[in-house]
Order: sequence, then C-alpha cells, then structure tokens
Amino acid sequence: MRVIITKDYDAMSRRAAGFVRELIERKPDAVIGFATGSTPIGLYRELIRMHREEGLDFSKIVTFNLDEYIGLPKDHPESYHTFMWENLFKHINVNPSNVHIPDGTVPDVEAYCEWYEERIKKFGGIDLQILGIGRDGHIGFNEPGSSLGSRTRIKTLAKETLEDNARFFGGDINKVPKQAITMGVGTIMEAKVLLLLASGKKKAEAVKKTVEGPITAMVPASIMQLHPKAILILDQEAASLLEREYEYDSTV
Ligand code: F6R
Repeated sequence: MRVIITKDYDAMSRRAAGFVRELIERKPDAVIGFATGSTPIGLYRELIRMHREEGLDFSKIVTFNLDEYIGLPKDHPESYHTFMWENLFKHINVNPSNVHIPDGTVPDVEAYCEWYEERIKKFGGIDLQILGIGRDGHIGFNEPGSSLGSRTRIKTLAKETLEDNARFFGGDINKVPKQAITMGVGTIMEAKVLLLLASGKKKAEAVKKTVEGPITAMVPASIMQLHPKAILILDQEAASLLEREYEYDSTV
C-alpha cells in the first residue's frame, strides 16, 4: 500500500484530485468509482475548480457510485443521487447517461445488483475507485463481518454507521435508513486503482488497523493490503496512530 500523509484536509483533497486529473488526462473515457460522505467533498470541490479554471474535461468519463440507501427516492435530499449531483456532477460536464448510482427503490434488488455488476464489466471495469472509510473500517457499506469476496448486494448498516450518518438526518438515528445497496468488497477490489481518503482523529484507529493490522473481515478496508495498487491519502490526524514511517507529501 502506498500511504501518503498530507498536512490537512485541503492538502489531502488536492493530492487526491491530482490522481483523478492524471487519470482523465491519460484516459479521457476512464471509468471512475465515486464515494459519498464528508471526506471526498474537498476532492470534488477541487475537481470542479479544475474543470472551471483549467478545462478538465469529464465529458467521456463513466461513473459508478459505491452505494445508496434502500428506500430513499433519487430526489430525497439525503439520497446519494442528490449528494453526487449537488456536490459534483451538476458542476462538471459529465454525460448524465454515463452516470451510475445504485437505485435504492428498485423492487427486485438482487436482479438490480447483478445488473450493476454486469454494467461495470461492460465498461471494462473501474479504473480508479475513490473510497472513504468508516470508523468501523467499512468501505462502501461493507460493514465488519462482510465477506471479503462479496459482490454488489444489500447490507444492513452497523450501529456506528447509523450514529455517524444521523448528522445528515437532523441528528435522528431513527431517520437513517437501516439498509443500503453497496458494491461488495470483491467488487471494489477489482478496481485497477484504489484511492482511499481519510481525514481527522476519529478515523485514526480504523486507518491504523487497515494499514498495520491483520487482514480481517472485521476491518473490511484491511483487504486493501492485498491490492496491487492501493493508495491511501491521509491527513496528519488520520495518520496519527500509524507506527511506521510513510511517504510524507512534502509538496504541501
Ligand atoms: C460512502 C461510503 C462510505 C463512506 C464512509 C466515510 O459512499 O461508501 O464508506 O466513505 O462512511 O464517510 P465520511 O466520509 O462521511 O466520514
């Protein structure tokens, strides 16, 4: 794993945007996996800036999001559809027909998940998957105990995740949907490059277990140790419990 430690959230976001830009410039029709949550918002802001000020062209990219809550219609303010359009897609020149975000309202979730997997294959697989990490070590919504070979499917969210995401639902844990459609750990691991971002002290324990702990389904992100091209971009707080020395981003 390549671990890059940056000074703070903004430096982390800029560094991550550099990887995305490099990919799109090299491969304009790149397939990019996107994540939601607080962590990648700075990265998305920087990509919007690159589009507006430097003409970074997203017109040919194909996108696949990691997950979506079950039961939330696309236009719900807290759906991941709304999140992606508000925080990134509507500000760049992505082609809406190239955007894939799981639909949490389909009647046959199983058939839908199979279709989602097929669709990723049809586009030749994901070139770069952006990831955040949960306090409990989840990636996507693959909570502790998820099969490390799992595919896109429905998952029940862990208590920590419900607590953490209550902030988006007026602080009321009972309003957070209890289940989500998520790409599986196996699906994520097939992406050619993994780019995991983590910021802040509350992620430090999960980051330590991911990088320096054993590979275990109890910390799904730890499977990244087996990936040939896994890059972690951390800020100093998220990296604060790491015991070994890692690449330090001296450009910030
Ligand atoms: C979101 C996702 C989740 C988040 C994780 C961290 O699409 O898949 O794994 O990345 O819950 O969320 P934040 O960034 O809000 O701390």
